[in-house]
Amino acid sequence: MANSDNSQKVAIVTGASGGIGAATAAALAKDGWQVIVAARRKANIEEVAAEIGGTAIELDITSEESVQALVDQVDRVDLLVNNAGGAKGLDPIAHANLDDWTWMYETNVLGTLRLTKALLDKLIAAEGHVINLGSMASFTAYAGGAGYNAAKFGEGALTRVLRLEHVGDPIRVTQIDPGRVETDFSLNRFKGDQAKADAVYADKLNLSPEDVAESIRWAASLPKHVNIDRIHIMPRDQA
Ligand SMILES: NC(=O)c1ccc[n+]([C@@H]2O[C@H](COP(=O)([O-])OP(=O)(O)OC[C@H]3O[C@@H](n4cnc5c(N)ncnc54)[C@H](OP(=O)(O)O)[C@@H]3O)[C@@H](O)[C@H]2O)c1
Repeated sequence: MANSDNSQKVAIVTGASGGIGAATAAALAKDGWQVIVAARRKANIEEVAAEIGGTAIELDITSEESVQALVDQVDRVDLLVNNAGGAKGLDPIAHANLDDWTWMYETNVLGTLRLTKALLDKLIAAEGHVINLGSMASFTAYAGGAGYNAAKFGEGALTRVLRLEHVGDPIRVTQIDPGRVETDFSLNRFKGDQAKADAVYADKLNLSPEDVAESIRWAASLPKHVNIDRIHIMPRDQA
């Protein structure tokens, strides 16, 4: 995709078909970014892109071909928000589901790696910024969380090493670690069990996707010599 207006900075947001990604795409567009809205669900990304004046590109971050197809359509990228991800299951280690673990590692860790690696030269050329969605689960282990913890701790290690390896280069690297955010995250974790998903958020203060999007928008809006390394953002009743 040619950048029609060279003065407008380009942001790619993965997992922008809903939840935190869609809210981030909207917040960035409002701030003047040209936003590429990327995820697998075509109808959703087209709807988000139409609402914010962005561009929808289908993307499956677990597929090298899909990642390459997106990269081939992008001339310039100033901001990559690696938001696509999530959890599957809440099983104790004694009953760990290897398929769920594989999904979580493939999506949160390898998906983030694939896209970052493929876009790194373009990001450095643009004096760009990588913002990865970690989680409270990136720094706090919990019973039943081992697969998601392992993936998010792993994604956090990738983020930290990227920052260290490019500390002298014109690129910023940030990790955003939200606590509980009311999205389809739990519905996906519990594989469509609405009652279990609702129980996660019932009678609690929950962050909205817009709350998290604001922290991403803010980190990206700072002058280029300012690197926000990490933001922990929780609802008040979670610590
Ligand atoms: N909600 C929370 O409480 C919470 C807390 C901390 C961190 N997080 C993190 O925040 C991020 C966003 O989660 P969310 O809460 O907004 O959950 P969500 O509503 O379930 O959104 C997840 C997004 O990831 C995308 N995705 C999943 N697999 C993908 C793939 N293979 N290729 C491309 N896109 C893929 C989905 O889009 P498609 O299905 O259309 O591909 C969807 O847009 C995740 O990394 C999650 O781990 C969430």
